[in-house]
Amino acid sequence: MTDDRPVLVVGASGFVGSRVVRGLAAGGRGVLAASRHGLPAHAAVQNGVVPVRYTGPDTLRQAVRDACASAGVPLPGAVVASIGGWQLGAPLLDSDPDEWTATLASHLTAHLDAARALVPLLAPGDPYVVLNGAASREPMAGSGAVCVTGAGLAMLVQVLRLEATRPDAASVRFHEVVVDHAVDGDDRNADPAQTRTPAQVVSALGAVLDQPTAPAVVHV
Ligand SMILES: NC(=O)c1ccc[n+]([C@@H]2O[C@H](COP(=O)([O-])OP(=O)(O)OC[C@H]3O[C@@H](n4cnc5c(N)ncnc54)[C@H](OP(=O)(O)O)[C@@H]3O)[C@@H](O)[C@H]2O)c1
Repeated sequence: MTDDRPVLVVGASGFVGSRVVRGLAAGGRGVLAASRHGLPAHAAVQNGVVPVRYTGPDTLRQAVRDACASAGVPLPGAVVASIGGWQLGAPLLDSDPDEWTATLASHLTAHLDAARALVPLLAPGDPYVVLNGAASREPMAGSGAVCVTGAGLAMLVQVLRLEATRPDAASVRFHEVVVDHAVDGDDRNADPAQTRTPAQVVSALGAVLDQPTAPAVVHV
C-alpha cells in the first residue's frame, strides 16, 4: 500500500483492534476505525483516526462510505479484520449450545459478513488482512469453540484467497496474520508463557499491507 487511502480496521473497539488502530495511525497511516460499540479513548483520540460507527453487516459498507465522505478522506485501500477474541469456559461437551452458536456467529460468520461488505470498496491488488490467534492451530481445553472457529477462519481466508485469483474476481489479496501468543496487557490471558507487544502486531501488519508479495499466512 503506497497510496494515501486509509486502512479500515474492523473490530476497532477490541483489545487488539484498538491497539492496531492506534499503532497504524501513529505510524502515519490514515485509519478508518469501524465498530458497533464505539472506540476506547486511547484509539479515538489518535490523530488520523476516523471512527466508523455501524450496527451490523448490512450497514457496514454504507457507514464506511458516509464516514469517508463526511471526513473528506478517500475510501479505504486496505482492510484489517480484528473480529473475535479468546474465551475460556466449560469443556465442549458440557458447554451451552447457545454459546457455541454465538461463537460461530461472532468469530467466523462475522468475518465472512465483513468481507462481503468491505471487499467491494477495495480495488484489485488491495490487501485484506485477517487477524487470528494461537487457538486456531493449537487445541486448548476450555476454548473449544474458539479453536474450531479459529481453524475455520484460517480455511476461510485460504478459500477467499483462492477464489480471488479467478479471472472474473476483484483480485483483492487476502492474508492471515496469526498472533501465536497473548498480546501484552490483555488480562484475559492468565499467566501466558510468552507474549507479543502491540507494536510487533502492528509491524507485522504493516509489512503485509505494504508488500504485494507478502506470504498468505504470517505468524507473529
Ligand atoms: N487479545 C489477545 O491477546 C490476542 C492474542 C492473539 C491473537 N488475538 C487475535 O486478535 C483478534 C482480536 O482479538 P481481541 O482479543 O482484540 O478480541 P476482543 O477484544 O474480544 O475484540 C473483538 C472485536 O470483535 C468485534 N466483534 C465481535 N463480534 C462481532 C460480530 N458479530 N460482528 C462484527 N464484529 C464483531 C467487536 O467489535 P464491535 O462489537 O465494537 O464491533 C470486538 O471489539 C482475534 O483474531 C484474536 O484471535 C488476540
